[in-house]
Amino acid sequence: VTADPGPTTLRFSRGVPPPECIPSHSLAVHTVAVLDAARDAAFQYPPIGRYLGDPALRERLGAFHRVDPDAIFVGNGSLQVLDLLVSLLLLRSGEREVWVEAPTYDRALQVFQRHGARVVGVPVEPDGLDVDVLRGRLRFGTPAFVYTIPDFQNPTGVTMAESKREALVELAAAYGFTIVADIPYRRLRYHGTAPSPIADLVDPVGAARVITLGSLSTVLSPGLRIGYAMSDPETAHALASLAESTYLAPVPLCQAVAARCLAGDVVLSSIGRIRHLLRPRHDAAVAAVRSRLGGALLTVPDGGYYLGLRLRVQADETTLLAAARADGIALARGSAFFPPSEPTPTDTHFLRLPFHALDSGDFAYGIDRLARVCAQFAGSAR
Ligand SMILES: Cc1ncc(COP(=O)(O)O)c(C=O)c1O
Repeated sequence: VTADPGPTTLRFSRGVPPPECIPSHSLAVHTVAVLDAARDAAFQYPPIGRYLGDPALRERLGAFHRVDPDAIFVGNGSLQVLDLLVSLLLLRSGEREVWVEAPTYDRALQVFQRHGARVVGVPVEPDGLDVDVLRGRLRFGTPAFVYTIPDFQNPTGVTMAESKREALVELAAAYGFTIVADIPYRRLRYHGTAPSPIADLVDPVGAARVITLGSLSTVLSPGLRIGYAMSDPETAHALASLAESTYLAPVPLCQAVAARCLAGDVVLSSIGRIRHLLRPRHDAAVAAVRSRLGGALLTVPDGGYYLGLRLRVQADETTLLAAARADGIALARGSAFFPPSEPTPTDTHFLRLPFHALDSGDFAYGIDRLARVCAQFAGSAR
């Protein structure tokens, strides 16, 4: 539990979308429409028995991602779907190792550890997972699965290059491991063009298995708690069985509202609006970090929520974060994004800076303060 940082503190610590990125009026209108049209179903248990989720919602998600709706399982947020998936994949493969990008999403790390997996990190480069390191490790063993966030990664902002996506799929086919691609930020691109979804690179006759996790939290509403796995019908049904024995069924009202929003143009117009709102914040954040913290920026993300920094300061992480807090900046602990088995560098510190929820002026002000904090420690932030 972290103490309330107080009203004047700038929060660089959480990835919650700002209210202006949630189309709450349209959500309310569609909620009322669902309650008018299908009130009884909304307040009843959904069907029990390998229930994959609201059929209309899966139909719409299938069209949205151009995948077979029968291969989609919808749960209560993608983190929960990941939790169900991990137990399935560990059981299926018999392996205990999960390989992840280092750094990666801290809550995913917690999920893997809770399931007793041995989590091994593979470094992230400015163009994504270091595939050469992965290839080298495969000579000594195979993981149950490789977990990647290929687009505007949480926490670095890095996007995996097309050539690396191809190499990863080839390795998965050759060594028989599953790729879990978590893509909540994919549609939030502010510049440039997107590389192919990893699942699209699979040779139809090849053996590579890619399971893609999607979420409506970033493009519609995190409060609806709609996340889903896109895999194959067998995996989708296995997830549904696990879900049923865990929480019986998802929330029908939320799924029906999401289906209506996808059927109209609410999701697409919400994506357009979010990109319009966040593009200037991204550009200003990159400019602020470059001007005050120079080479600390790992990459220019061109999308998503996060900038990743590597700061060279002569202070340990606790001291750095405490000094930042004393100067009014709440930061997430960068080491929490690395698997515990990873050696933590002592001369540099990783930092994740969410730029999406602060206006550009506040962000720049925070970076100014951060640069001042860094200057206290050996006078260099570069
Ligand atoms: C990479 C990644 N996966 C999953 C999630 C959780 O998403 P959801 O709200 O769908 O559970 C997040 C949220 O921050 C995330 O960054």
